[in-house]
Amino acid sequence: MRPPSSLLLALGSVAFGLEVVTRPPPEPEPIEVVELPLPPVAPSDGVGACTPAINPRRTGCVGTDVGEFQAGDFTPDGNHVVVNVEFVGAPAAPDPASIYTGEQLILIKADGTNFSNGDPWKCLSCGVPPENARSLDPQRDYPHVLRSGDRALWGHNILDCGGVDLASDACTPNRTHIYPIHWTTSADGSGPGGVPREMRLHPDDMHMGWSSFTGDGGQAAYFGRLEFNPNPAVGEPLTPRYDLVNVSLLVDPSGKAPISAEDGELRINHDAITVGELRGFSGSGDEVLYIGSSWESSNIDVFAVHVATGAVRRLTSHPEYTDPIAFSHDNEWFVVMDTRPSGRQMWMAGMRWIPPLVDMVAVTAASSTRNNRDRRFFQPILVDRYGDRGAYFGQQVNAGGDGSSGSVNDPNWNGRADPAFSPDGTRIAYWQALVVSPACGGDNPLPCPVSTAQGGRTYRVMLAHLTSRTPKRPAKVAAVPDLIPWATPFPPGATVPALYKVPPGNYTVRGRVSGVADVSYAEESSAAGRTGTVAVAYANYSDQCGYILNGHEKVSVQVLFPNVWDNVVDWTSDLLQTGRVEATKRTSAGGFHLEINAETNIFSANGTLVTVVDGVEYVQPANGA
Ligand SMILES: *[C@@H]1O[C@H](CO)[C@@H](O)[C@H](O)[C@H]1NC(C)=O
Ligand SMILES: *[C@@H]1O[C@H](CO)[C@@H](O)[C@H](O)[C@H]1NC(C)=O
Ligand SMILES: *[C@@H]1O[C@H](CO)[C@@H](O)[C@H](O)[C@H]1NC(C)=O
Ligand SMILES: *[C@@H]1O[C@H](CO)[C@@H](O)[C@H](O)[C@H]1NC(C)=O
Ligand SMILES: *[C@@H]1O[C@H](CO)[C@@H](O)[C@H](O)[C@H]1NC(C)=O
Ligand SMILES: *[C@@H]1O[C@H](CO)[C@@H](O)[C@H](O)[C@H]1NC(C)=O
Repeated sequence: MRPPSSLLLALGSVAFGLEVVTRPPPEPEPIEVVELPLPPVAPSDGVGACTPAINPRRTGCVGTDVGEFQAGDFTPDGNHVVVNVEFVGAPAAPDPASIYTGEQLILIKADGTNFSNGDPWKCLSCGVPPENARSLDPQRDYPHVLRSGDRALWGHNILDCGGVDLASDACTPNRTHIYPIHWTTSADGSGPGGVPREMRLHPDDMHMGWSSFTGDGGQAAYFGRLEFNPNPAVGEPLTPRYDLVNVSLLVDPSGKAPISAEDGELRINHDAITVGELRGFSGSGDEVLYIGSSWESSNIDVFAVHVATGAVRRLTSHPEYTDPIAFSHDNEWFVVMDTRPSGRQMWMAGMRWIPPLVDMVAVTAASSTRNNRDRRFFQPILVDRYGDRGAYFGQQVNAGGDGSSGSVNDPNWNGRADPAFSPDGTRIAYWQALVVSPACGGDNPLPCPVSTAQGGRTYRVMLAHLTSRTPKRPAKVAAVPDLIPWATPFPPGATVPALYKVPPGNYTVRGRVSGVADVSYAEESSAAGRTGTVAVAYANYSDQCGYILNGHEKVSVQVLFPNVWDNVVDWTSDLLQTGRVEATKRTSAGGFHLEINAETNIFSANGTLVTVVDGVEYVQPANGA
């Protein structure tokens, strides 16, 4: 389901933010989607369940459950996609097929051909001699092929075929080395180092971006350079490894906070650099992509900050939730995984241009309702490099199906991270997982679908051909400095500085176009937990021409220690928006009460919060759904 055309029309006829829309959006284009091959499914994960009858070449079987499965991006020729699989059912050693077990890095064919052994896949990490992989890190997510083609990022490891293309027959297990990645964070270099997560490599194959949880329930983002260390003297592991050096914390020490208090007023600073979670780099590597502080209430978006200048751009603005993103190598397009085809978040975020004030306490809850447990509501959306604007909200990559069970646009098959462009920009690879119990079945109103994938697999890799496109050359890769000029150097021993927080108090916010909002922000903390409350009253408030807000909203969020991810939310809302749209956002008598955990994402609410935009009503998900 797309947003109603009335909403699109209304948005299309106005200026976008404070910038006038100057660049016309692209026309929709033809896209054909096919499924890519994976190893065959074994009936169980018992030893030997991957029989010769199932795989006559004895090169491994996978299970039905998604487990740690993850598909990544293409090899430089665009003919293969790198995938982290979990092999199951291997026979015991010394059977040669015993090496096809556990989490392994494979390439799958994206051009309909087979490798020389006859399989449409090839394992890169199976059977690598132990002396070539002396400290394999257990983290094996977000697989990525380096542009050099002879190496891959595999979680916290670099798999290296020593100058030989990973896809070629010359890249054998004996030739392959796997090195762990180490991030020295102690001043003397001792210990296992920091715990990076969600590593994303810069297109120069040398620099890395990542996120890492801070001790207090927050997260910070970093940028550094990979440096091979053949003989480390300190830190764990003491084996040949890649060190992350010249690390910057992606915080501008002299920059603005997303919301700042000055003389009794709150300012919402759209030029603030707010790298909440790092998502990768643009196609040329000139920008860092990230989930940033919202510009609109309950609307989570992806932003870009220029590596050299610190200039910030908002890439997505659709009210729905966005997270994974990948740019084309020519830097002209990006594809995001977004809940926009599902309408999942419209009950909270469908009214546009509410400033992100209650979000000071409610942002975790607002981003937690996007999932039902492991069910994401993502689908891949193709957007040009200038991002959502006016009535343009990109094009769903897999819209062309009949919606039937197992079809390319079956809404029960949900997108996962990360999508990827072929280097020539003519194809997109992405993967999906089928909704499974307990996100369906039982008490859940959604019956569990039966997988139509081979062997009843509940995950699949898809390839979208952008059939009207011609191959494009990659953009020149931006030369990035080791230390980002606007960021904070983060040498070993450094600690993450406390971020600016708006102090509790009563404030005025002036609309960018007109009106004011009166804001009261209060906080209570005890050994048992903390409660933050934001109350806002809008009087003809407008951040966007033609969108005038009146009414009030009050949100209290309680976090009880030690479960910092558990949010107990009390919400009352009575908002009216007039002008180019007629919209309301209202809670039922007695308010809307939600309890949700940011890690488990199980929706449990009493009362309702309903958004109506030009007569179209958006309601919250059912409890547990
Ligand atoms: C690739 O191998 C599969 C069997 O694994 C076979 O069915 C298919 O025909 C082969 N494709 C080509 C192009 O040879
Ligand atoms: C790999 O090297 C080992 C010795 O280092 C050798 O015994 C083995 O036959 C080689 N395997 C292949 C497939 O070349
Ligand atoms: C970058 O790290 C290297 C150590 O690997 C160090 O020699 C160099 O001085 C660092 N550069 C800067 C700009 O800090
Ligand atoms: C904000 O205003 C309310 C009443 O308008 C008052 O009770 C409260 O103490 C004020 N808060 C602060 C921090 O000044
Ligand atoms: C909002 O603007 C309208 C029209 O100018 C005016 O009649 C009304 O009194 C204003 N309301 C508030 C709360 O300022
Ligand atoms: C909803 O109401 C039930 C019954 O009164 C109560 O047990 C539960 O805690 C409430 N849930 C929320 C999120 O308020």
